[in-house]
Amino acid sequence: MKTPAYYAEQLRQRFSLRPTTAIVLGSGFAPFGEELENREVVPFEELEEFPRSTAPGHPGRFLAGTVKGVPVLCLQGRLHYYEGYTMEQVVLPIRVMQAFGIRQVILTNAAGAINLEFHAGEVMLITDHINFMGTNPLIGPNDNALGERFPDMTQAYSPRLQQLARSCAQRLHLPLREGVYLGCTGPSFETPAEIRAFRTLGADAVAMSLVPETIAAVHCGVEVLGLSFLSNLAAGVSGQPLSGKEVNQAAEQSRPMLTRFLKELLSEMGTQA
Ligand code: HPA
Repeated sequence: MKTPAYYAEQLRQRFSLRPTTAIVLGSGFAPFGEELENREVVPFEELEEFPRSTAPGHPGRFLAGTVKGVPVLCLQGRLHYYEGYTMEQVVLPIRVMQAFGIRQVILTNAAGAINLEFHAGEVMLITDHINFMGTNPLIGPNDNALGERFPDMTQAYSPRLQQLARSCAQRLHLPLREGVYLGCTGPSFETPAEIRAFRTLGADAVAMSLVPETIAAVHCGVEVLGLSFLSNLAAGVSGQPLSGKEVNQAAEQSRPMLTRFLKELLSEMGTQA
């Protein structure tokens, strides 16, 4: 693995656009990459020693393009801790984006709904998180040039971007849930007992990603908007067994809604940046 600065320079050589807004497309969100206009593509394989994406539904490439005329950098397929990558590898794309010039990022994923009022197929705006991964991407020597040793996480999910998401959703008449996201390592799904425990802890949704990226982004001064697509009810809630295939398929039905929402969000974020 080379440095974030090295990969950022590679992307600058390959991309003609210079976006300051980015989006990480999680499980089920990957097809949104095809919505970018004037698209330029850099697969991870074409970047020397860059980790490969092995998760289903995660192509593993950087895209640059425009949404309603606004330039956007897009990570189509993230790296997960459960793939066996180190935390440093998991947050590499975030640091590459920061070195490239990204100032605000939308982090998306599919998640299980813990809150009993939530339904599968809804979108949850992440207002805060609980790191249940048992580790932290900032463990190790701190790069003071990048950020502080002990970054404040009081407003990890930008209140400004949360407000923007609420107003976009309202304008499009999309119901938007809000809540606390809890990140586990996976790859096994949670047990019903774990889900009951997480509910008691104050979690509304659960999945296996996003938390490390938020921490790394906050650390290096990139503003975060977090969105979870609730692909299923969490373990034990409906009594149905969970499957990874279902998680990727669930977003299919909600695709038009998700596409409209992300387009509106990105164009608003680009206009206000
Ligand atoms: N648990 C963990 N990760 C997930 C889930 C879930 O229920 N749904 C989508 N990703």
